[in-house]
Amino acid sequence: MPYRRNSAGPTDREGVNRRDFIRLSATGCAVANIAELSARPHGGIKRYERAQLVDPFGSPIRPSQLVVDRAYIFHYPFAGTPCFLLNLGRPVRGADPFRTADDRTYQWEGGVGPQQSVVVYSVICAHRLNYPTREISFINYRVEASPRTKTAKVIHCCSEHSQYDPAAGARVLSGPAPQPLAAIALDFDRTTDTVFATGTLGGELFDEFFAKFAFKLALEHGSEARSAIARTAVVRELTQYCKQQVKC
Ligand code: FES
Repeated sequence: MPYRRNSAGPTDREGVNRRDFIRLSATGCAVANIAELSARPHGGIKRYERAQLVDPFGSPIRPSQLVVDRAYIFHYPFAGTPCFLLNLGRPVRGADPFRTADDRTYQWEGGVGPQQSVVVYSVICAHRLNYPTREISFINYRVEASPRTKTAKVIHCCSEHSQYDPAAGARVLSGPAPQPLAAIALDFDRTTDTVFATGTLGGELFDEFFAKFAFKLALEHGSEARSAIARTAVVRELTQYCKQQVKC
């Protein structure tokens, strides 16, 4: 695992302090003592390796403890393909069938976690494939409305201002994007308050992404960019991963 510990407390390479990484959500509730694995329905899901979400110290991510409206990032299903993990702080239900740019339909089943408030999306903009890197991110989760982001709590790509609603399957609210962000299928284990990524749902754009950014991804990830993520996926706060978030 890419982390180390020191005498002041566990710290990863980006200087994340574990106590800062996950704090109890103001609206977090007790984990239901129900021994079940709430697997998502399989309709329309493209399966990849099952990977448990863990923090930079290797400890499981607890959906009940994710800070509401804070953007977390991890890479899945490949080492070079980023995803946003969000706790929206309220239950988000599934929505009507979604349609991809190539006219396929799929059903998004809503959030997971004790409150059904946790969602994950592949954060490769459906317009021109903009994505967050360690240096800069033009695509971000915006909690507050702004002159450009007229609606609060949206994923906004500042390149050409595509905006996606994370509470509704990342459907397109405005801008040139031709389809929603692809969703990441999740299994939530209520007994242990742990969560696993299992596949994608919707219009994944990985082939186009790897073709367009081959050189850049090689610089960022070496030869690993297209390596499958398996067993665990390391989650970080976006502010700890990315040096500069462009706000528009
Ligand atoms: S790349 Fe995101 S709006 Fe154009």
